[in-house]
Amino acid sequence: MPVKVLFVCLGNICRSPTAEGLFRAELAKQQLVDEVATDSAGTAAWHVGKAPDTRAIAAAAERGINISSLRARQVDAADFEAFDYVLAMDESNLMDLKALRPAHYTGTLALFLDFAADAAEREVPDPYYGGAEGFEHVLDLVEQASVGLLEDIRKRHLD
Ligand code: 4NP
Repeated sequence: MPVKVLFVCLGNICRSPTAEGLFRAELAKQQLVDEVATDSAGTAAWHVGKAPDTRAIAAAAERGINISSLRARQVDAADFEAFDYVLAMDESNLMDLKALRPAHYTGTLALFLDFAADAAEREVPDPYYGGAEGFEHVLDLVEQASVGLLEDIRKRHLD
């Protein structure tokens, strides 16, 4: 059984698909695609079924990562039965997830940037209402956190 990781933001069209795409690229680099399964979801239902925001697709593509085939879905309580890690992009997402988490959940519910050793920020800022530089910043932050997350997974689940 692979270790399962769920990335969660608000709309599931900007930050969490970007995080999933970048983390999968890191998994491929370290030849761990069969050991770790990933998905992403949003706390809100507004964009269910949609592809990532065109700006998120373009920013990821510039780093050689294709996220265009991902489709948005809403997170629900059953996700806690399936995923070992449920990782929120910001404090608001985390609060919503804590409200949804069953009392018996024994996995890791945390901010994704908790795994970014040197990040000056704790939250991945919502880039939806800003410009292209916001999407670059999202990529930089999730890149740092992806490396730390994979170290944690190796230590706790794979070694
Ligand atoms: P995300 O960004 O949570 O990173 O996917 C957003 C996408 C859409 C909206 C807000 C944030 N929205 O208000 O529709």
